[in-house]
Amino acid sequence: MAIVLSGIRPTGNLHLGNYFGALRNFVKMQYDHTCYFFIADYHSLTTHNDPAALHENVRNVLSEYLAAGIDPQQATIYVQSDVQQVAELQLLLSMHAYVGELERTSSFKDKIRKNPQNVNAGLLTYPVLMAADILMHRSNFVPVGKDQEQHLEMTRVFARRFNNMYGVEFFPEPQPYNFGANLVKIPGLDGTGKMGKSENNGIFLVDSDDAIRKKVMKAVTDSGPTEPNSSVSEPVANIFTIMEVVSEPAVLEQFKRAYADCSIRYGDLKKQLAEDIIRTVAPIREKIEDIRNNDKYLHEVLSLGAAKAQASANETISQVREIMGIRKF
Ligand code: TRP
Repeated sequence: MAIVLSGIRPTGNLHLGNYFGALRNFVKMQYDHTCYFFIADYHSLTTHNDPAALHENVRNVLSEYLAAGIDPQQATIYVQSDVQQVAELQLLLSMHAYVGELERTSSFKDKIRKNPQNVNAGLLTYPVLMAADILMHRSNFVPVGKDQEQHLEMTRVFARRFNNMYGVEFFPEPQPYNFGANLVKIPGLDGTGKMGKSENNGIFLVDSDDAIRKKVMKAVTDSGPTEPNSSVSEPVANIFTIMEVVSEPAVLEQFKRAYADCSIRYGDLKKQLAEDIIRTVAPIREKIEDIRNNDKYLHEVLSLGAAKAQASANETISQVREIMGIRKF
């Protein structure tokens, strides 16, 4: 069984794209691998300065993961800051991370360009903290999007450098976990591009039925097919793509045929899409609401997660200390 780790910064609510993209895969993966899912609250502090919002965002992501089916007994789900060992590993790894390579990281260059007034040291060492998260459990695989690939590559560099420097084969070099055909990319409702947190084109797992209806009715379409069998325009193709995951195949077929023979009515298409999305989202939303209001349950889940993650972390830290010469008399 491989060790798989995934981290998410708590920055807002999860949308359909997150759900069909990664979350549903995590739920399946937890039975096939040793999975660690954690909420990277330390990482948020590089840009966050709203303590109340940070705390609520941790509650939200945690509730959403649990409602989607992450099983805290099966997988290890935890909050990064509950495993303070990560701060020590970050410190130890930082001794072999070169300032030059950290300054050349794309995400760092991006951040300093966008926020020249807040070039803090945490931003510079962000990839070292991320490497500590990953190497802490000696993870083999990390599911990452494009924007995190460089960070994962740096983690491999740090792992390799540590092993070479001390003549050990301690840290595995973590590889990107590829969902392959199981990775569904959900487009936005604005006609082009994928669903995103900041793009303002998303359906969130916490959206009410009415909010979903309103958003879907406003989805961008086109002015309608004028010739039979014309190729489907991008905005309408995007609606079909979402239907592929939420609607009955026969229903989708019917709309595709209607597009091909020019009889399609976008009002009907959107009504159908809205109801099918609601069928997927409503039960999840209800679970999220129950869970997020249950402090006792959240506390239990995180205590268990912290205990499991700390056990693995202590094992790694004690060996790293030994390897680096931090030894007891
Ligand atoms: N940097 C990641 C992001 O912004 C979050 C993250 C922190 C992470 N530590 C990680 C992801 C370790 C994977 C593994 O999305």
